[in-house]
Amino acid sequence: MTGSRILALGHYQPSRVVTNDDIAQFVETNDEWIRDRVGIVSRRIAGDETVADMAAAAAGKALANAGLTAADIDLVVVATCTAVDRSPNVACRVAAKLGITAPGAFDINTACSGFAYALGTVDHAIRAGASRNALVIGVEKLSDFTDWTDRSTCIIFADGAGAAVVTAAAEDEPAGVGPVVWGSVPDKGDAVRIEGWRPYVKQEGQTVFRWATTALAPLALKACEQAGVAPSELAAFVPHQANTRIIDGIAKRLGIPDAIIAKDIVESGNTSAASIPLALSKLVERREVPSGAPVLLFGFGGGLTYAGQVVRCP
Ligand SMILES: CC(C)(COP(=O)(O)OP(=O)(O)OC[C@H]1O[C@@H](n2cnc3c(N)ncnc32)[C@H](O)[C@@H]1OP(=O)(O)O)[C@@H](O)C(=O)NCCC(=O)NCCS
Repeated sequence: MTGSRILALGHYQPSRVVTNDDIAQFVETNDEWIRDRVGIVSRRIAGDETVADMAAAAAGKALANAGLTAADIDLVVVATCTAVDRSPNVACRVAAKLGITAPGAFDINTACSGFAYALGTVDHAIRAGASRNALVIGVEKLSDFTDWTDRSTCIIFADGAGAAVVTAAAEDEPAGVGPVVWGSVPDKGDAVRIEGWRPYVKQEGQTVFRWATTALAPLALKACEQAGVAPSELAAFVPHQANTRIIDGIAKRLGIPDAIIAKDIVESGNTSAASIPLALSKLVERREVPSGAPVLLFGFGGGLTYAGQVVRCP
């Protein structure tokens, strides 16, 4: 049972940039409040692109960056909570768009922790011999589920996709995807929800904020411990991009003053399951983290759910 590693990443964002001033045109808010309370300066909002279009665009780039072709992929797993169609699932749509002919293909919905859940699941599949080369994708089109008259949510959420090619590690190679620490707090399920018909994102912001800044650091430290990596060894911390104050609060409790702290939220907003692979893909593209260096991923959100693991940078 060999482990797995991330071979390459790719991402896609819609071209339309929406600034805080743009949002202040239609709800009572302002740039200063949004920057101070959430940390977002601008976000990308999709036009005609569907969730599957964005996922396929990110995955196509990841495949090209990995030097693999569609024929090499035997598993496609998509983390999303904003697919409009009930069937076929997004994974099958992506496979069809990329010409991947017969992969295992399924979607995972654990909202903002989705990518880390999907990566953990794919790592397990590879360890079990059920896959050799997999695509793991986080994608959201939250703009379809945003009440654009609600200033407490419409300033936060956005659209995009990030993807990783995950491959079986060689026998003599250390695993590049560490053990996943995952779990949930079901009795706080009402704190973030997209429910009913027609569904819009609703949240109890302060409940989520308190939970994220108090409960998650010990769980993230557990992911480091299970990977055998001391927090001081981390080259980067890539948490779910929910709020810069949450990100700073968790990072402070981890005690990682020298690590790069991903803050893609500033220019991308909160893209739920897409936020971690999007931020990680950009760090790798900008060569900010050396190949092989340990990076802590940690997702959290609707459910409430959380998941994280230490990965080696491709
Ligand atoms: C949502 C969040 C930014 C709100 O910040 P907050 O400091 O908790 O703000 P509150 O909700 O207490 O609101 C404070 C005031 O700002 C107002 N306000 C809310 N949204 C506003 C906006 N966009 N612009 C200006 N004022 C706003 C509120 O109406 C309230 O006004 P009041 O005091 O007159 O009643 C913050 O709670 C948060 O980030 N929580 C985590 C949410 C999250 O990460 N969700 C995603 C999970 S994956």
